[in-house]
Amino acid sequence: MSLLKNLNFSKMSEASVKYGISNGDEPGHFGIWALWGKSNPTEVFRVIVSAHSSKSSLVVPIASYTLAPTPTESFLQSIETSQELKQFLVGSDRASSGQVTFQFLLANDVTKTITYSLEQAIKFLRGKGSKAPKSASVISGYLVRDRQEIAEIPHSQLKAYTETVKAQIADKLKKAEEEKLRVEEEKRAALAKVQAEAAAKAAKPVATKAEGTGAIDRSKPTLLASKLAIVFGSSTGNTANVAELLKKELGASVEHLKNITDLHPVDFTVVENIILGVPTWHIGEIQEDWAAVLTELRALNFTGKKVAVFGLGDAKGYPDTYVDAMAELLEPFEKNGAKLCGLWPTDGYDFKKSKALRDGKFLGLVIDIENQDNLTDKRVKAWALQLQKEMGI
Ligand SMILES: Cc1cc2nc3c(=O)[nH]c(=O)nc-3n(C[C@H](O)[C@H](O)[C@H](O)COP(=O)(O)O)c2cc1C
Repeated sequence: MSLLKNLNFSKMSEASVKYGISNGDEPGHFGIWALWGKSNPTEVFRVIVSAHSSKSSLVVPIASYTLAPTPTESFLQSIETSQELKQFLVGSDRASSGQVTFQFLLANDVTKTITYSLEQAIKFLRGKGSKAPKSASVISGYLVRDRQEIAEIPHSQLKAYTETVKAQIADKLKKAEEEKLRVEEEKRAALAKVQAEAAAKAAKPVATKAEGTGAIDRSKPTLLASKLAIVFGSSTGNTANVAELLKKELGASVEHLKNITDLHPVDFTVVENIILGVPTWHIGEIQEDWAAVLTELRALNFTGKKVAVFGLGDAKGYPDTYVDAMAELLEPFEKNGAKLCGLWPTDGYDFKKSKALRDGKFLGLVIDIENQDNLTDKRVKAWALQLQKEMGI
């Protein structure tokens, strides 16, 4: 009693790290824990577990568990016991006596060792040993044994390694948050635009009206018969710009360059070669102005016509629905007799899934303004040359 009185425990716990072994969060695991004072948080980088038999030369290969990033406060972390150690402690040919050693690799190249008898170690393994102090906050999940390349990082480099991991995680979180904000902002802007356009459309009808009746007559073409037309839909202008570039490349053979909002679907019946431009919106959806005329397109006959499509999309933002709308737009044209030209290789595009694929190629030219705008001119030029051959224009 008198000895205890003479020691200043509160000072000791402020100044020194306390660490130890406890039950894990399930049988078959150990718990590793550390407590430290406010004034000198000392990091625990790694715990190394080894065991040997005192009667035979049986030695268990060491297993290391690196904490990256290192916990910043008192913690309890469960670790999975290696198969070899389980075999050694409780397996059919288990050792009859020996020791299990836990080495705590701390900051400043300090290593602390705790050794247990086999009986004590087995108690922990079965969840019947001592528990960790209550003030150690539990880290969820458990650590598995280090992969070889991690286990090989020397003690002196562990601080740098764990800091790199910490920075990588922080960077990933930051990027994910930025991306989330970007997508939300884009959605907000897109929605506002769609609503504004819908309001504008409601205010002034775009289709021509049949003479005298005031009703919209969509059965008559508004275009003169022609050899080549480029028709696009575009919500924020990108597809319209690519359509312009394409017109420049194809030159005078392009008789019409039109937004689908300025045409009737029936206009396609008087054009021999049709080039369509369509962006994908709202996660795999066809652009709204094209969506509005799909039913009418399905009722038309395109026999004898050649059709080609270019699609705009964002591979990084929407890798699973990349330029999907191209397939949806082509469907009525091909089903009703048009012949597809202008298939385009997927080389150089980084996406996961797309409905716009046929025989390992895109259904037509794909332009990605968000990620590969530097390639737009080159791609448009090459596709224009390809179309000139395939369509005979
Ligand atoms: C809210 C939103 C959803 C989008 N969804 C997709 C998509 O599912 N697949 C894709 O490839 N691109 C998608 N995009 C990218 C657009 O297709 C791309 O920005 C295109 O260049 C827009 O063309 P536009 O300006 O002619 O409307 C999306 C963009 C936004 C803002």
